[in-house]
Amino acid sequence: MRVSQLKIPEEAKRILVEAGYDSLWPPQREAIEAGVLEGKNLVLASPTASGKTLIAELCILNNTLRCMGKALYLTPLRALANEKFEEFQRYRDLSKTDGSRIKIATSTGDYDSSDEWLQRYDIIISTNEKVDSLLRHKARWISEVGTIVADEIHLLTDQERGPTLEVTLTKLMKLNPKSQILALSATVKNAEEVAHWIRGAPVTTEWRPVPLKEGVFSTGEVQFKDGSARRISEETGRPALDIALESVRNGGQALIFTETRRTAVQFGKKSSEALHGRLTNTQRRILGNLAGKVLSTGEKTRLSELLAEQISSGAGFHHAGLAAAHRRIVENAFKAGHLKILAATPTLAAGVNLPARTVVISSYERYEPGYGRYPISVLEYKQYSGRAGRPTYDNYGESILVAKTADEQEYLMERYVCAEPEKVWSKLSAERVLRPHVLSTIATGFAHTEEGLYDFFSGTFYAQQNDLKSLRLKVGGILKFLAEEGMVKIESRNVSATRFGRRVSELYIDPISAVVIRDGLDNRPSRLTEISLLQLIAHTPDITPKTRPRGAESERLSLFADEHSRELMFKNPEPWNLGLSYQQDYEDFLAELRCVMVLEEWIRETSEDDILRNHRFEPGDLLRLTQTSEWLMYAAEELAKLLEQKDLIRPIKLLRMRIRSGVKEDLVELAQLEGVGRVRARMLHNSGFHTIADLRKASLGSLTVVPTIGITMAKKIKDQVGGRLKAEEWDAFKNGEIFDEQKLMTEY
Ligand SMILES: Nc1ncnc2c1ncn2[C@@H]1O[C@H](COP(=O)(O)OP(=O)(O)OP(=O)(O)O)[C@@H](O)[C@H]1O
Ligand SMILES: [Mg+2]
Repeated sequence: MRVSQLKIPEEAKRILVEAGYDSLWPPQREAIEAGVLEGKNLVLASPTASGKTLIAELCILNNTLRCMGKALYLTPLRALANEKFEEFQRYRDLSKTDGSRIKIATSTGDYDSSDEWLQRYDIIISTNEKVDSLLRHKARWISEVGTIVADEIHLLTDQERGPTLEVTLTKLMKLNPKSQILALSATVKNAEEVAHWIRGAPVTTEWRPVPLKEGVFSTGEVQFKDGSARRISEETGRPALDIALESVRNGGQALIFTETRRTAVQFGKKSSEALHGRLTNTQRRILGNLAGKVLSTGEKTRLSELLAEQISSGAGFHHAGLAAAHRRIVENAFKAGHLKILAATPTLAAGVNLPARTVVISSYERYEPGYGRYPISVLEYKQYSGRAGRPTYDNYGESILVAKTADEQEYLMERYVCAEPEKVWSKLSAERVLRPHVLSTIATGFAHTEEGLYDFFSGTFYAQQNDLKSLRLKVGGILKFLAEEGMVKIESRNVSATRFGRRVSELYIDPISAVVIRDGLDNRPSRLTEISLLQLIAHTPDITPKTRPRGAESERLSLFADEHSRELMFKNPEPWNLGLSYQQDYEDFLAELRCVMVLEEWIRETSEDDILRNHRFEPGDLLRLTQTSEWLMYAAEELAKLLEQKDLIRPIKLLRMRIRSGVKEDLVELAQLEGVGRVRARMLHNSGFHTIADLRKASLGSLTVVPTIGITMAKKIKDQVGGRLKAEEWDAFKNGEIFDEQKLMTEY
């Protein structure tokens, strides 16, 4: 079947043919035959790289160009949303039948907004969580959605994030019952079940355009599924790295999946050391520029320095603890072929198209802070290995799992390489994840009565797979809790959200966190300081994980607790009240204080290295803690407004800004500038630039004298703060007369 024969608008076909899509691949043909262009709902379950996105594109174009409502494309990862947004750009000159140009947008950030600006767009690409938050904000344009694409729908089975996808889709289906739903999935055992849930048909294939050779490594040799074997020469003492280096030697690029963020950074480092001597001068120059870009984009942190260092030698790492701007640079540098080896956590595991000829899975286990270690599922394994051999980049790919022993090699071959992916199971029943969804369902008016609430949940995938009785019990229990805490009102049979409940739902926090914050603000300690407010948010269940301290750190924390006892919102548990559980509760108390202490050091401008060392924190974990804390502080500020705790609004706001940048009060203004951050802000302050107004008056030259501020950064600061530059200074800058960019870059 040829693209030119499709019954979709001519202009769209022209663009597709120009982009190199000539004929349809088997899974695509099957989807067309199953009626995807006639408005049928479909689950397309097909191997990695088999071209599922194109079906979504055809379906979206067919509907939106004919003015059949907006299209909403949901993805689980920001990296994937970015990639899809860029791919969709090729359609931006197309016109709809009403004559207007098609408009494409992506929105993945800020969870406390209804993004009304999206009203003007036709194709909206977003993450599952963001769409959930948009629904909570009752974004009006959502009712105009006519096409819903749920990419990577097998995520339904994910313990943490599956329920959000499930409830979001249930809501979208209720809100727009006539819209067309297309769910894209990896091959799973029960695609029919998922299809039944979305009232559609399953299309399942086993076809992959590029052969993917899967194998397991042990004791110097990879055994492949097809019976072949290959020796790997030992070079570095790390098999995963040796395999990656072999791929690079043969002209390929390699992606190493690691268990933790820490190991991703370590593998990146080892890879860069191994690659360093093999670079040509041209490569060195390009990589040097990329490293410079990392340093001049976003904040200068321990992690960004490590990244820049690795990038300059052709390797890198990618994980969720990395700032979004830096992640983008890494993704693009790998896609462009500049980085030869990239070490990543599962943040790159789903859907993205990367030029990895070789994927190395360095461990079949995964480590999640707070949960510990567990083996990945077959489904996850397939996602990892499926990043290799992508048609745009390679005509062959291989994925290699690393085993520690010959025994394990045999086990992994059976357990993963030769195994069938599991069934998709709803994980909605866990109370912790269900709780916010019960509140949001009531708060956004999807249910007005208790029966209505049960009715809503009877439309979930969970209800299709399980006995409804147990879900009713759980939902009923949560409803009671929400009513007791004043988030929901129950009047005879009617249920509705209170103002408090509505705001909590919008703020995207666990209702229990809201209770903690409300009660904390009500029962202030005798001395209310920033320690009290930091503990307030550290006490909420949204701050996870709270790892218990060990050894010397426990002692320091006990001391910290004594020193600040009058400031604490939640007191030291008393042995006589708690009896047997005392020891555990005390450790939990210290674990919470550990977060407080880290945050306190952070806003006192203790150096990142010292914080990491003092608390045995990983750089990525620090970013995660500060980001979540900033969000919770924002929630506390909003709740203080709502609950009329007026005197606390300003101090909380100030604290939030300080957490965002990790600075003392006097730097809050400067640190807000993009790319400046705590280190450079302090340098500017020390050099006499105390306010934005000071910077506005400053000359480029006077800024470049400040340590850590190169010309690129100075220019970036001036771009943001405004103010005039002297003409001769600008000319000199352009001509490179007074500022030698290269020289200044090495300053970092
Ligand atoms: N008919 C086609 N002709 C040529 N190239 C195609 C065709 N269909 C898809 N491709 C290319 O194949 C690549 C993989 O497609 P896509 O990302 O849609 O895979 P996928 O099935 O979604 O995989 P994953 O499960 O990993 O998300 C893309 O780069 C795409 O441009
Ligand atoms: Mg895909």
